[in-house]
Amino acid sequence: MLISEVPAFREYWYPVAYSVGVGSEPVPFRIFGEDHVAWRAGDGGTVHAAVDQCPHRSARLSQGWVADGCLVCPYHGWRFDSTGSCVEIPANEPGLAIPARAHVESILCEERYGLVWVCVGIPRAGIPDLVEAEDPEFVMIHELMDIRTASAPRIIVTALDVSHVAWVRRNTVGSAANPRLSDYTVERDGLNITFSVSYIARSDRPSPEVWDDIAGVDRAVQDEDRTLLEGIDPNFPIEVTTELHTKSDRMTLEYRRVLAELASETTGVPPDREWARRI
Ligand code: FES
Repeated sequence: MLISEVPAFREYWYPVAYSVGVGSEPVPFRIFGEDHVAWRAGDGGTVHAAVDQCPHRSARLSQGWVADGCLVCPYHGWRFDSTGSCVEIPANEPGLAIPARAHVESILCEERYGLVWVCVGIPRAGIPDLVEAEDPEFVMIHELMDIRTASAPRIIVTALDVSHVAWVRRNTVGSAANPRLSDYTVERDGLNITFSVSYIARSDRPSPEVWDDIAGVDRAVQDEDRTLLEGIDPNFPIEVTTELHTKSDRMTLEYRRVLAELASETTGVPPDREWARRI
């Protein structure tokens, strides 16, 4: 079973675009292996999201455009409002009823922290609280928007894995001569994991002139990760016994435990806790 096939994961919010990236044109995005489209209903309007497939002849709605707050299909010009309902079929004479099935499947969509968040199911939790993102003392620098041919959980694990920095990032911010980690704590509260690192939310108020420099360093760092990640088998073993874990892997191990617990809701496979106790 792929991670993207675990039903519970569909019940959380995920960021899919920067708010500034959704302007007057529809924006395609892919989540859980399914194509979707986001669009903004006019200047300064709200962002909406839906399955990227017209119910008429399956054209990609992301290849269309926005007019009068509606998403217009590029194939025959059908217009869909923010709820996904078709409100106009140009080829038909005015007044002819629009079929009830002329409806594109909308998904939940909200903007927060300068990001567009979506949930393809019924959310069981809110958009994550990012305290620093709403603290005026901090500046959030939106740096990178990349498409990678790697599995999402492997990318997340790398972001949570501090011990790889000395090796993968040895040509930028890391040093193979200094591979040892200082101790850190990982706290679990239900399905939430707390692990603090300082990185891209800054309280030193860097001027916009140096944002490019900051982004440039992170770009180089992320390129190092990219090369490595795109070479790894995208199959991500959710149980903790397939790959080997040590003391320095406590954060990423806890992440797998959370995934395993969510997956066990529907697979019936109990999350493996026994091996983890031996660390
Ligand atoms: S395929 Fe979209 S209007 Fe025909």
